[in-house]
Amino acid sequence: MNRIPFVAGNWKMNKTVAEARELVARMSAPLSTIPNVEKVICPPFTSLMAVSEALNGTGIGLGAQDLHWEEKGAFTGQVAPNMVKEFCSYVIIGHSERRTYFGETDETVNRKVHAALKAGLTPIVCVGETLGQYESGLTSEVVRRQINAGLAGIDPAIASRIVIAYEPVWAIGTGKASSGENAQGVHSRVIRPALSGLFGESNAQAIRILYGGSVTAANAAEFFAQPDIDGALVGGASLKPEEFIAITKAAVK
Ligand code: 13P
Repeated sequence: MNRIPFVAGNWKMNKTVAEARELVARMSAPLSTIPNVEKVICPPFTSLMAVSEALNGTGIGLGAQDLHWEEKGAFTGQVAPNMVKEFCSYVIIGHSERRTYFGETDETVNRKVHAALKAGLTPIVCVGETLGQYESGLTSEVVRRQINAGLAGIDPAIASRIVIAYEPVWAIGTGKASSGENAQGVHSRVIRPALSGLFGESNAQAIRILYGGSVTAANAAEFFAQPDIDGALVGGASLKPEEFIAITKAAVK
């Protein structure tokens, strides 16, 4: 199965509007010339409008870092799917920081994935075990549960629009990336079989599975060389233009 490589930068809670404009200006032209890689930038909500203007015509996609599942109403502080869709084609759902600090559960992830797909957004659904779970040998069990519960009830006919990001929590922002071999094992032995169980084998083969967690220009090629690692969700290094451009180049097959 030929899956188009996918590289997304998650800026997390960084950059004012002015700073976001400046950062995009430093990376959009070189990124736009990299062929055959789906490229996405995910700034904070407040910068989406400015960054969407800056990315116009570059072929680089824009994503939000979260959304709410309800369509509108009395939900102070939340952003609805069709509001995200005004600027974005993508949305990150279930990032470990949202699970850890903001009460995200597999159930809320599931509601958000349904809502994102309904709004025509591509959800980038994050899964991954904590350090304690990793050390206790619970990785497969935890990730399988996150996939099965997070993607429950999705119509197999549209499942190939989903992108999965495997982000072991112990590797996020720590500088201690997983090995390519370890991530490949989770992708091929846990995530893809779980997707196959939900959506059938041919849909499972079409879904991109990204690795995330301390990806850098120096280690990116090790991940992209693995047959079931279809790209990366990049945090810290996505704030450094040269690094993010080099990572994206490394994804070209
Ligand atoms: P780092 O690349 O900074 O480890 O962050 C990974 C991540 O959480 C991307 O969503």
